Amino acid sequence: MKKTWWKESVVYQIYPRSFCDSDGDGIGDLNGIRSKLDYLKKLGIDVIWLSPIYQSPNDDNGYDISDYEKIMKEFGTMEDFEALLSEAHEKGIKIVMDLVVNHTSDEHRWFIESRRDRENEKSDFYLWRDPVSGHEPNNWGSCFSGSAWQYDEGRGQYYLHLFSKKQPDLNWENPKVRDEVFSMMERWCEKGIDGFRMDVISLISKPEGLPDAPLRGGLYGDPGICANGPHVHEYLKEMNRRVLSRHELMTVGETAGVTLEEAKKYANSDGSELNMVFQFEHVSLDGNRDYGFKWSTEKMPLLPLKKNLAKWQLGLDGVAWNSLFLCNHDQPRIVSRLGNDSAEYRERSAKCIATILHMMQGTPYIYQGEELAMSNYPFKSPEEFKDLESVNAYSELTEKLKLEGSKLLPMIAAKSRDNARTPMQWSAEENAGFTSGKPWIPVNPNYREINAEEELSRSDSVFYYYQKLISLRHSSELIVYGHFELLLPEDPELFVYRRYLPDRELLVAANFSEREREYLPEERFLAGELLIHNMEGRSPQGGRLAPYEAYVLENRSGVCHDA
Ligand code: GLC
Repeated sequence: MKKTWWKESVVYQIYPRSFCDSDGDGIGDLNGIRSKLDYLKKLGIDVIWLSPIYQSPNDDNGYDISDYEKIMKEFGTMEDFEALLSEAHEKGIKIVMDLVVNHTSDEHRWFIESRRDRENEKSDFYLWRDPVSGHEPNNWGSCFSGSAWQYDEGRGQYYLHLFSKKQPDLNWENPKVRDEVFSMMERWCEKGIDGFRMDVISLISKPEGLPDAPLRGGLYGDPGICANGPHVHEYLKEMNRRVLSRHELMTVGETAGVTLEEAKKYANSDGSELNMVFQFEHVSLDGNRDYGFKWSTEKMPLLPLKKNLAKWQLGLDGVAWNSLFLCNHDQPRIVSRLGNDSAEYRERSAKCIATILHMMQGTPYIYQGEELAMSNYPFKSPEEFKDLESVNAYSELTEKLKLEGSKLLPMIAAKSRDNARTPMQWSAEENAGFTSGKPWIPVNPNYREINAEEELSRSDSVFYYYQKLISLRHSSELIVYGHFELLLPEDPELFVYRRYLPDRELLVAANFSEREREYLPEERFLAGELLIHNMEGRSPQGGRLAPYEAYVLENRSGVCHDA
């Protein structure tokens, strides 16, 4: 397998709005991030992925961009960004930018011009369609509830928006759109950035003729019909030829609806498109079976989770490259979702989850606060939701599907993206040390117990456990490049796997249940080295795994049996 820096890196995602506020306006900013670079250096990460920092009316917190080449006022200035980039580089940290080009904001000058009439220069920059019998051109729903079409009086036509109506979809079939996007990317590359995370890039090529889609949740056609469309690989190859291949970059596609076969095209090791993709199968396993939507109070089930992760480990080995993630700004907190966020098990289960993820093949992503085991927010009423996805879902499902609010509330509370977006908990001071003003979104009330300052002062904290996982990866080809084999594949509580190269192998063992389980590794592992363990005073030799206990053993004897 070809060795590269981005395969050997660990990425840390920053959601700037909620990371650190330097000027007291209650909104995180670029200078706030600058002030925390030493913290990130201490953690040991290699790359920062910055969620969007561009000018935006913030209908979807920056994922609705009105100018790709200006910095959002609340976040600072272009000078602040340049200072951040150069200070990060001085510390050996790279910066990957979010690239949101499936859609723009409706306040982008391209859209303002496009919507003026049917003849202007940009008239074909977006997906405009005539009404069909006085209605929307097809049955597609938006990912944020309601129809994916918005009628525009001026043009007497509908435009497509797979997300909010303030996020009109660009028409990638128009070569002028591609020219504009590629030259904008080129200018960012010239600034010295280190890569792109490409927002919903699997959706840029819409199916021929925009046909109706199967219903989703009973109301609208599933916008997932746009995933992996007919020209997506052609467009990405063109992007690769014209921009990516001319720079030393790391690229990751956010590819909703990606399958293993498709991932092999997006992230092929021939380098013709992207370096890696985010797949979403594993974070969809706790969706609602009754209604077919994501809202549910189900915990993430271990058996399908480990089978799914194993499928991706085996499926891409040697052909493409995995991204390893459980958390991001769109997902609830993993310790609440898969672990146990009670006082008794929060730290141990967070370490257990981290062990499993960080010992796999692929590039690991840590989302801000994950390294502190930050947990879900205790929502008590629908008025507390800020995110448009949660707000719209609550009103659509109570009004149109007639679901009872009291039943729906805990489901949305468990899965809301707001869980990930509460301010980073830096200290036990007011507002968790995030801001001296009023935070734009409430701080999780548990910040007095869970915060960076406290964890930095204690050597057995979750922070130092992540630090150790990262440094183990940095010093081990086996962790980065080794092959994968799932052991005990049918056990619904234990997650055990092996990583191997011809002469070395690792055993990763974790108990995801709340009862003690018997498990004794084979002798050749017991005779090896214990690389990391989330419980002091216990030993793999004991043949038992306590609730959420996890450890990693390395056999360096040179004798491993090959799968
Ligand atoms: C991606 C982003 C999400 C955003 C959506 C629309 O899924 O991660 O936060 O709302 O795209 O841009």
